[in-house]
Amino acid sequence: MDQRGINLLNRHEPGPTRRYVVRTFGCQMNEHDSLTIRGLLAQHAYLPATTLDEADLIIFNTCTIREKAHHKAFSEIGRTAQLKEERPHVVVGVCGCVAQQDREGLFQRFPHLDLLFGPDQIQELPRLLDQLHNGESHVSALQCINSADDYHFLDLIPWATAVEQGRPTAPPATAFVTIMKGCDANCAYCIVPSVRGKEVCRPAEAIVSEVAALAVRGVREVTLLGQTVNTYGNRRHPGVIPFPDLLQRLADETTIARIRFTSPHPKDVNAALAGAYRDNPKLVPHIHMPLQAGSDAVLRRMRRSYSRQQYLDKVALLRAASPDLALTTDLIVGFPGETEADFLQTCGVVRDVGFSGIYAFKYSPRPGTSAAEALHDDVTEREKRDRLDRLLTMHNAMLQRQLAANVGTMQEVLIERYDEGSAQWTGRTPHNTLVHCTGASLAIGQLAIIHITRAYGHSLEGKEREVIRRELAGGGGV
Ligand code: 5AD
Ligand code: SF4
Repeated sequence: MDQRGINLLNRHEPGPTRRYVVRTFGCQMNEHDSLTIRGLLAQHAYLPATTLDEADLIIFNTCTIREKAHHKAFSEIGRTAQLKEERPHVVVGVCGCVAQQDREGLFQRFPHLDLLFGPDQIQELPRLLDQLHNGESHVSALQCINSADDYHFLDLIPWATAVEQGRPTAPPATAFVTIMKGCDANCAYCIVPSVRGKEVCRPAEAIVSEVAALAVRGVREVTLLGQTVNTYGNRRHPGVIPFPDLLQRLADETTIARIRFTSPHPKDVNAALAGAYRDNPKLVPHIHMPLQAGSDAVLRRMRRSYSRQQYLDKVALLRAASPDLALTTDLIVGFPGETEADFLQTCGVVRDVGFSGIYAFKYSPRPGTSAAEALHDDVTEREKRDRLDRLLTMHNAMLQRQLAANVGTMQEVLIERYDEGSAQWTGRTPHNTLVHCTGASLAIGQLAIIHITRAYGHSLEGKEREVIRRELAGGGGV
């Protein structure tokens, strides 16, 4: 038998224990999808590998939101060609948004790939792996599921699978919970609707059950996930309720301590949602509300469906309900036709709202989007970079002042992890500010009152409250 024959025979014959690596790029949605993939693999007796060299299965969960993310996926996938030559039995797969966008074309570009599946096809993974192990090659599942009747959300708590299989895995302090998939908005720059399909909402009962189960297992905070998370329930479907009602049910029917969600669309920020910030004590006083641009002309071309003033009115509505609400946002600089004056309007809104965090990006034309087809990408790369730099510099100075104002205050911090190197715990305040801290009785999942002692560029430092309480003995409280 020639070398090629041997390779084909060996192709998908794994060792006694199959090990996997899942590499994730992109947003929280992808992070959560990767966890689901890990959970599915655990259910099918796969164990995690620490390096690519140990893996029998390598999956790249990819992002295509900007060209740079897409390139990154390509270069990572390309690097596995050599590995596949040396160890032909290894299965290399691509899922996520690049898989959905480039489809079977990826098999042409990367002949060493075995497997492709889209964001709506994650549950098909065990079947696809069976096909490969039965000798099929180049298997794929790339359909977007656009109807609520056909889409089924997986009810799976990924790390719980490992626990049930006898591998001790401590519960994380925080968890993502998917409440909807897809996107029905029509933003001119955005590729997401074409790779993640139409919006489908998960029944409220399943969401409440999952959050209750997470809380019982030790999770303290959930982040509800959706591309436009607060359009949840806008369209009536059996089992789906209005978004603020869902928030209320989660507060009333589960023991979860904190509720977050991301990302809302400003158009569906309304009095009912503001009411939730006022009345639901488990809903943290933070909202990530993408602005994208501060100029009406640009917002119109982006098809964002709100004006600068309407956005500011939503901020005022929320702040009237929750006066110390922290806001963070997404921004795009250099959208087609953006002038210096337009850009300065964006800076003006950032300053006026006083965002405590911004995620700012240079516009990147994405294939198939209406902006890429109809609008000339006329802001030069140099100008985009310059605007991004100026925006970040301006925001950093503002953030520095905000963070410095926290020094000396007490903050409630949910401890998420421990770093051996610095011997510090890290967690977040309800406002979503990162806090590094020390304290004898801190532990992952613990809510602690921390005395803030120092401000860094993007985080705070502090000490556990007990220390402070002793100092405060006889002199008041927290
Ligand atoms: N170019 C640059 N940034 C983009 N985003 C979405 N599409 C593009 C694009 N084509 C940004 C938006 C969005 C965030 C997730 O990514 O700000 O809110
Ligand atoms: Fe990237 Fe958007 Fe896909 Fe998330 S949904 S992975 S941001 S392209």
